[in-house]
Amino acid sequence: MKFSTYAGPLVAALVYSCPVLAANSSDNEPTLQLSTDSAFNFQFLIALGNALTGGSDIDPVLGVAKNIKAGDMASYSKEFHKLARDTKAQAQNPENAYDPINVRDTWFSASHYFRRTDFYLHGNWSNPLINSLWAEQTAAFNKAIAALPVPGKRILIPAKEGNFTIEAIWFGAPNSENRTLPTLVVGNGYDAAQEDSYHYFVAKALERGWNCITYEGPGQPTVRRKQNIGFIPDWEKVVTPVMDYLLSEKADVVDKDQVVLIGNSMGGYLAARAAAFEKRLAAVVLVPGVWNLYASFTRQLPSQLMDMYDAGNFTQFDKELFSLRKSGKLSTNAAWGLDQGLWSFYTHSPSDFLTQSKQFQLEDVVDKIDMPVFVGDGEYDDLTPGQAITVAKALGNKATLYQFNGTSGYHCQTGALQDLTRTMFAWIHKTLANA
Ligand SMILES: *[C@@H]1O[C@H](CO)[C@@H](O)[C@H](O)[C@H]1NC(C)=O
Ligand SMILES: *[C@@H]1O[C@H](CO)[C@@H](O)[C@H](O)[C@H]1NC(C)=O
Ligand SMILES: *[C@@H]1O[C@H](CO)[C@@H](O)[C@H](O)[C@H]1NC(C)=O
Ligand SMILES: *[C@@H]1O[C@H](CO)[C@@H](O)[C@H](O)[C@H]1NC(C)=O
Ligand SMILES: *[C@@H]1O[C@H](CO)[C@@H](O)[C@H](O)[C@H]1NC(C)=O
Ligand SMILES: *[C@@H]1O[C@H](CO)[C@@H](O)[C@H](O)[C@H]1NC(C)=O
Repeated sequence: MKFSTYAGPLVAALVYSCPVLAANSSDNEPTLQLSTDSAFNFQFLIALGNALTGGSDIDPVLGVAKNIKAGDMASYSKEFHKLARDTKAQAQNPENAYDPINVRDTWFSASHYFRRTDFYLHGNWSNPLINSLWAEQTAAFNKAIAALPVPGKRILIPAKEGNFTIEAIWFGAPNSENRTLPTLVVGNGYDAAQEDSYHYFVAKALERGWNCITYEGPGQPTVRRKQNIGFIPDWEKVVTPVMDYLLSEKADVVDKDQVVLIGNSMGGYLAARAAAFEKRLAAVVLVPGVWNLYASFTRQLPSQLMDMYDAGNFTQFDKELFSLRKSGKLSTNAAWGLDQGLWSFYTHSPSDFLTQSKQFQLEDVVDKIDMPVFVGDGEYDDLTPGQAITVAKALGNKATLYQFNGTSGYHCQTGALQDLTRTMFAWIHKTLANA
């Protein structure tokens, strides 16, 4: 069996969080590329994007970009780790901490750089950095949210169905009169942490007078680490307890008719699935719309490999895929996608991962979704091509399909978060006013 002919973009179907791009295709890109490695370029867009909301600074990130060797995951981790440690040292300097703005800027940035450091390390579950970096990012984030005008607060919500505990963070909007306010519920997908959600959505929502709660369920960073549990398809088991919490514990400040759920990245599937069973949501925002995970993971797998899988030759399939991973011939996106998929679905078997992913599809439940849904799509998002349109069609007049083009066209509008949040809030404003 010869793999070299299809190594690279072919197996990149296993990737979820970054666009799969042909090597050296920068002429086809809408932006200046910060690395010849498209996975790294995407990572730098995430890192730079956080600067909008105090989670990074431009030149230190470009400094990392300068020092990292394209495709070298270890160099990526090493450089971000150095920046994380330096930023943490600045945060710890008592002279820095003279006001809350300094405190939260430095700790938010340190926290974010520790998360970036962790990103490519999940291939070896025994790597002690997986937990130690997470302890660092968590501690730093806690210091930052304690310095917000209304301090953020971590909350544990036990699942009612299922053996896990939801990790959440409550961010109350400034609210001196104790009014009930519209509230955003924010969840990610395959890899991002709820701490990332602060920079993607929460900061901009708080400015607009919205409360927010971010959450993580099985498979997601802190739940995966603390509870050793991988993704589950029936995501209402995660979102419904969060809703119950909001409508009981926070009933005095949450407007029960204005709770909006956001699903980011693979969360575009998770949120839609939950919305099919959670009727108390006023609206849902999918960034992007995702119809079927199995289709997106297998779409570009070479037919030889898929034949093995379809014939039930799982041992052989796993062996071939691992040898491809070891060979170093996979693109960074594909290698990372495999590492992260196994880790977050809590399995050491790629075929088991694929088989699990078959349950993550909307076809069986889409009819039950009965609130307005914003369905995002990105011109340069190659992970789930065509799926947002399928989701929008299936939802009919409940859906608003919005296609982000050009420089806003990457997966999850990474690098164009202002466009994303402006567009999204304008839609929410219009939709709730008409409700
Ligand atoms: C891709 O671009 C890099 C950097 O410009 C260059 O070194 C490399 O030779 C190019 N590879 C191909 C296959 O064109
Ligand atoms: C995984 O990490 C552990 C702990 O650092 C190390 O002992 C082990 O050799 C690593 N395994 C591989 C395959 O690199
Ligand atoms: C629930 O999870 C805990 C901790 O992971 C485990 O010890 C326990 O056996 C699980 N219980 C069930 C019913 O699965
Ligand atoms: C709002 O609630 C807080 C805490 O429960 C209370 O201390 C405060 O007096 C309330 N303010 C108003 C205007 O009701
Ligand atoms: C599956 O494995 C069997 C036994 O090793 C082999 O005969 C068959 O050709 C394999 N099929 C595929 C599609 O790889
Ligand atoms: C993006 O391009 C598509 C196809 O040309 C078009 O239908 C859509 O309206 C564009 N989106 C926006 C926001 O302009």
